[in-house]
Amino acid sequence: MNALSHRSLVPEILDGLAADDPRALASRRDLRRINVLMFQAPIMASLLRKFVPKPPRRMLEIGAGDGTFMLKLARRMARHWHGVELTMLDRVGLATPGLRADFDRLGWKLESITADVFDWAETADGELYDVITVNLFLHHFDDAQLVRLFSLLAPKAPLLLAAEPLRAMSALAAARLLPAIGANDVTRHDAAQSVRAGFRGRELSDLWLAAGGRPLEERRAGPFSHVFVGAGPARDDP
Ligand SMILES: C[S@@+](CC[C@H](N)C(=O)[O-])C[C@H]1O[C@@H](n2cnc3c(N)ncnc32)[C@H](O)[C@@H]1O
Repeated sequence: MNALSHRSLVPEILDGLAADDPRALASRRDLRRINVLMFQAPIMASLLRKFVPKPPRRMLEIGAGDGTFMLKLARRMARHWHGVELTMLDRVGLATPGLRADFDRLGWKLESITADVFDWAETADGELYDVITVNLFLHHFDDAQLVRLFSLLAPKAPLLLAAEPLRAMSALAAARLLPAIGANDVTRHDAAQSVRAGFRGRELSDLWLAAGGRPLEERRAGPFSHVFVGAGPARDDP
């Protein structure tokens, strides 16, 4: 059995730092570069083009961080998708007036929610979206927490699209090269840990099924990523 055959979860350092801690600020800057190196925005854009052919009216991004990833994604989609109402949720409040203005310029309306995703999803009964996107976030949670999260999210949107770390030796080897781009100690720890907590095979599909949803696609994407697309529970025809 190799060290990556099962997911292993250790708390990420960034999750324990205050938003304005200099190590957290540096690590969020590193994360922007890691998103670029992993091709996360083009990977998510191609999933959106395939699974969301009509422009959505309302989108939800969970674990959105500082919103940089979502802004890059919006820039890729905005030519064909006008007037999207985007809600970004993170337990740390990082949306700035500048970010809001950037989305405004694309013709998108940004709402931000600062909350723990579980607390929010348990209480936000009437909130419905056309699609939920997730980037480098699901790997924070163990399998039981993911089944709970999926059960809470599936009724809120017909589709959930996720781009997560691939749990593979190649990704772990790449994480070990992060000092070469000047990544700080927080990023170096969290990146390796994210790979060990990442996904492979049909792991997310099985968890989505356990939550009553219908998995549509799960596979490796790009050099270091693993993507998943799930649909809500099948509805009986009226
Ligand atoms: C690895 S970062 C990814 C951020 C962003 N998606 C990106 O790609 O840049 C994970 C994010 O999840 C947030 N987070 C962790 N646990 C959370 C929770 N229980 N509820 C809401 N946000 C959470 C953290 O604050 C952090 O911004």
